[in-house]
Amino acid sequence: MPEPSLPSTPLVGTVVHGAGRGKGLGFPTANLSPEPGTAVPPPAIYSGWLTRPATGGVHRATVSIGTNPTFGDSPQVHVEVHCHDTSDDLYGERVELWFVARLRDTEKFATVGELLAAAHEDVRRSDALLAGAARPAAPTA
Ligand SMILES: Cc1cc2nc3c(=O)[nH]c(=O)nc-3n(C[C@H](O)[C@H](O)[C@H](O)COP(=O)(O)O)c2cc1C
Repeated sequence: MPEPSLPSTPLVGTVVHGAGRGKGLGFPTANLSPEPGTAVPPPAIYSGWLTRPATGGVHRATVSIGTNPTFGDSPQVHVEVHCHDTSDDLYGERVELWFVARLRDTEKFATVGELLAAAHEDVRRSDALLAGAARPAAPTA
C-alpha cells in the first residue's frame, strides 16, 4: 500500500522528449505527459513502480515531479522517471506510475554534481524501499 498521502491509482501518461539533459548527465529519465484527469502528486521526489501495458513489464523507479529548479527551467512541472532496471527507449509508450513513498523535497542545488549525488542516493533509498513493497500485477494493454 502507498503512504496515505499518495494516490492509490496510478499516474497514467505518455513518454515524451524532455530537455535531453538526463542522458548527458549519465542519469537518463523518461519524461511523462500525464493524461487528462490523471492524478499528479505535488512536486517532490518519489519511489514507485513503472508498469508498461505494451510489454507487461514492471520496473523499479525513482520519480522527480517539479520544475527542475537547479537548471532554472520554466515554471512548467515535469514528471520524470528514472528506471532502475531497464534502459529501454520508452518514447511514445503509454505507461503507469504507482507511487510507493515520498523521498524528499525537490531542491535547487548549487552544482550539477550535488544534484547527481542526491539523485544517486534517492535511487539507493528507493531500491531498498521497493524491495519490501508490494509489486503491482503485470499490466495488460
Ligand atoms: C531521482 C531524481 C531526483 C531529482 N532531483 C532533483 C532536484 O532535487 N532538483 C532539481 O532541480 N532537479 C531534480 N531532478 C530532475 C533533473 O533536474 C532532471 O532529471 C534533469 O535536468 C534532466 O532533465 P531532462 O530529462 O528534461 O533532460 C531529479 C531527477 C531524478 C531522476
